[in-house]
Amino acid sequence: MGKSLLILGAQWGDEGKGKITNYFSTKADVVVRYQGGNNAGHTIVFDGKKYALRLLPSGIFDENICCVMGNGMVINPRALIEELEEIKKAGFSTHHLFISDRSHVLFDHHIELDRLNEEHLKDKKIGTTKKGIGPCYTDKTSRIGMRMCDFISDEFPNLYKELLERKNQEITFLGGTPIDYESTVKEYMILAQKISPMVCDTIALLKEARKQNKNILFEGAQGALLDIDFGSYPYVTSSSLTSGGALSGSGIGLHGIDEVLGIVKAYQTRVGEGAFPSELHNEIGDYIREKGHEYGTVTHRPRRIGYLDLVALKYSIQVNGITAICLTLLDVLQGLDELKICTSYTYKNKILNTLPASNQVFKECIPNYVTLEGFKEDISQVKSFDELPLQAQKYIEFIEKEVETPIVLFSVGPDKYQTIVRKEIF
Ligand code: IMP
Repeated sequence: MGKSLLILGAQWGDEGKGKITNYFSTKADVVVRYQGGNNAGHTIVFDGKKYALRLLPSGIFDENICCVMGNGMVINPRALIEELEEIKKAGFSTHHLFISDRSHVLFDHHIELDRLNEEHLKDKKIGTTKKGIGPCYTDKTSRIGMRMCDFISDEFPNLYKELLERKNQEITFLGGTPIDYESTVKEYMILAQKISPMVCDTIALLKEARKQNKNILFEGAQGALLDIDFGSYPYVTSSSLTSGGALSGSGIGLHGIDEVLGIVKAYQTRVGEGAFPSELHNEIGDYIREKGHEYGTVTHRPRRIGYLDLVALKYSIQVNGITAICLTLLDVLQGLDELKICTSYTYKNKILNTLPASNQVFKECIPNYVTLEGFKEDISQVKSFDELPLQAQKYIEFIEKEVETPIVLFSVGPDKYQTIVRKEIF
């Protein structure tokens, strides 16, 4: 019987999913991305080389793995082709990539509208990646978006003309520069021609994979706390990042996922605006940022840093049905005298153990911490849990006990071999 594993970020993104997905992909026959677009940035390091993936599933480096871009994704065709070219240049084959005919196409007008929307929000801006993600999902929900099946069809020039006329009105209304039809349609037609052979019914493909007992890996982008429904709205991205999104964004069906692995950074980071109770505005935050190279893969913005927040993590475990945890970047905490973990919030003299819906309330939450002893030893070469300094072991055990979910693996460095498995799950 084939197994299926969903790997998703359990915080605000950038938890190191790329590395872990790549680690598990050796056991997978199929790797599926189900939401988001090139707002995602997955850094994968192997054989000492660093690769930045934005749209492509992490299995792309192995031609024996069938890589699927699911119907829940929004795909910028230019960014896709550029990424594919890069991969090809590095010597990898890309013939094993399959793109859903139901996925949505992200155009230049979405990027322009993203920029304009942010500008108009002024100090209430979301801090988006400016890749056009929100406007593309808006069109999808408004039922005026363009899907891959139409993008690669003969109808495309007419459909695009109609769409662009409408979108240019919005752009003009917001004070932006309208997108020129003649020049863009030509480029998009060339891109469509290149993409066309990869487009197919990925729902049928996944059904067949299940039937043939293949191992399937679902790869989430961003993190659950940025989910459109469950995240810290409105400071979220526009897609469904949680396990529900893996079902609706791939068409696998309710029973198509066996395990949900939550990737959890040993501390907390966030990019863009929004509440962050355990955020650090001091030298400890700076230390972690530098040691963990906490700068955005897509936007290169310095990430906001904080202590691990277990209130948020418990919530994430609940909404995703996380069955196991992978703790990443544990090595980054080496050298700190003490390790604080947020276990509850105080809001107006009341203790909160759950995440408030209101952004205003969330912003005013004061974190309550448990303090554990830090560790001084370099842990980047440890091969087992027992080799870890006692303080690091206690840190792991404390989290596990609090969130009542096993930490089945942890990571002590960027390379694949720096992943320590405590229990096999896939
Ligand atoms: P958008 O996805 O570009 O619309 O941005 C919405 C919010 O999600 C912003 O706060 C972004 O910084 C955040 N975001 C989007 N993609 C990522 C990611 O891959 N990692 C971390 N944050 C992200």
